[in-house]
Amino acid sequence: MADTPSPLARTTAPVAHTTASVADTTAAAAQPHALALTDLHASLTDPVLDAMNFLNEVVARFPEALSFAPGRPSEGTFETEDLARYLRIYTDHLEQVLDWPRDRVRTQLFQYGRTNGIIHELIARTLANDEGIHVSPEAVVVTTGCQEAMLLTLRALFARPEDTLLVSSPCYVGVTGAARLLDIAIQPVREGAEGPDPDAVLAAVRRTRRAGGRPRALYVVPDFANPSGASMTVDARERLLRIAAEEDLLILEDDPYGFFVRAGAARPTMKSLDTERRVLHLGSFAKTALPGARVGYVVADQEVIGTAGRRSLLADELSKIKSMTTVNTSAIGQAVVGGLLIESGCRLREANARAIAHYRTNLNTLLGELERHFPAERRRALGVRWNEPTGGFFLVVDVPFVADTKALEHSARNFGVLWTPMSDFYLDGGGEHQLRLSCSSLTPNQIVEGVAGLARFIEAQATEADPHH
Ligand SMILES: Cc1ncc(COP(=O)(O)O)c(C=O)c1O
Repeated sequence: MADTPSPLARTTAPVAHTTASVADTTAAAAQPHALALTDLHASLTDPVLDAMNFLNEVVARFPEALSFAPGRPSEGTFETEDLARYLRIYTDHLEQVLDWPRDRVRTQLFQYGRTNGIIHELIARTLANDEGIHVSPEAVVVTTGCQEAMLLTLRALFARPEDTLLVSSPCYVGVTGAARLLDIAIQPVREGAEGPDPDAVLAAVRRTRRAGGRPRALYVVPDFANPSGASMTVDARERLLRIAAEEDLLILEDDPYGFFVRAGAARPTMKSLDTERRVLHLGSFAKTALPGARVGYVVADQEVIGTAGRRSLLADELSKIKSMTTVNTSAIGQAVVGGLLIESGCRLREANARAIAHYRTNLNTLLGELERHFPAERRRALGVRWNEPTGGFFLVVDVPFVADTKALEHSARNFGVLWTPMSDFYLDGGGEHQLRLSCSSLTPNQIVEGVAGLARFIEAQATEADPHH
C-alpha cells in the first residue's frame, strides 16, 4: 500500500530529537515528518470527536441502509433553480428597493464584506416577525453556520480557566466539541423528560462554584432538542431566566428546530422572554432554509463596558473574533438566504409551512410505526421505551441491550437500518442503552420500511440479551 512506509525508510529516517523517548523515536523514525498525536491539541484525542468520526465512517459504509442517523433537513422542497432566483431577488432588492447603483451591488457580492454580515437587517426583521424578538440589526452577527456562532460566543465569554460552561445533557456535540477546542471546562446538567430542570441547573451552578469554578453560561436547546427531542415548558424557561439573573449566568439558547411543531402550539423562545439581556440567541438557517449556504447567526445585544467606561455591543466584540476566524460569512451564501427571506416577506415560519407539515407527518409516522411494532405489552416485556417529542427531528428509544457502534454495524449489515448511539452525547456516562432516531430526511414510506427493519433488529438483539424474550 502506498501509505505504508518501507523498512528502508524506517531504518534511515533521522531521529528528530536526541532526548526523545523510545516511543517518540519510533514515531519519528516511521516517517520523516511524523508528528506525535500527544503533541497535538487534546481535542484531537477527545473520545467524543473520535466517536463522531467513527460513526460517520460506519454510516458511510452502508449507503444502501435506511438511515435514521442524520439530522439533515428534507430535500423535498429543494430546487436547484431556486438558488438563482433567491440571488436575483436579493440583488433586485438592493437595486430597486434600497436604490443601490449596480457597482455597489457588484461589490457587495464579489468583495470581502462587513465582518458581522450583510443580511443582519433582514434577519432582525424576520426574528421580530417570527419570534417576537426585537433587537437592533447591529446586535445580529451573521455567522458561517450556527457552529461559528457557538465558537465566537464561547471564545468571547470564557476568559479564565475556571469559567465553566453548563450544558443540558445529553448535549449536541457541536457545542461540546467547540468548548473542547477552546479548552473550556464543561459541567453537564442531566435533562429530564422536559429538558433541563431549572432546579437542577441551580444545583449545578452552586456545585460548580463550590468546586472553584465560575459558572458562566448554560447552553440549552429549549425546543425539540438534539439529541433528545425534549422541550422545556414556558414555566421552566421563565424560572431559568430568573435563576440566570440571580446567579449571574448567561443563557446560550440554540433554536434550530423551534418551527417544527408536531403537537400543541409553538412556545416562546427564551430570548423573547428575556427582559434582562441574559440570553444570547443562536440561530441556524440549516433546517429552515438550506444547510448548503452555511449561514447562521447570533443575537448578542448585551452591552460591554470597557475599562475607560466606553460602551459597546457584545456583537461588536464578537466581530473582532470573527475577523480572525472566517473574516466574513460568504456574501453569496448570505445573498441566497437573504433572497429567501425577502421572498417570504421576512416570515420564515410561513415559508416553512410545507416543511413543518412534512416533519409533523414524519414524526407522527415514526411514532405510529413504533407503536404498531411494539404495542404496550410487547414493549414492556422487552424493556423497550421511547419518548414522544412534540416536534423536531429526533426521538430516543431505550433498548434492553448495549446500543454501541458494534450494534449499529450489525443493524446496518443485517437489518439495513442505521441510527445513532446516544452514549456519545453524554459527557458523564449514560445512554449506553439508548439510540437516537432522526426522521427528518426520510419519506413516510421509508420510515415504515425502516421501523420494520429496526423492530426486527431490536427483537433479535433483545432475545440474544435475554433468551426468555
Ligand atoms: C442543536 C443544533 N444546533 C445547531 C445546528 C446547526 O448548525 P449549523 O448552522 O452550523 O449547520 C444543529 C444541526 O444539526 C443542531 O442540531
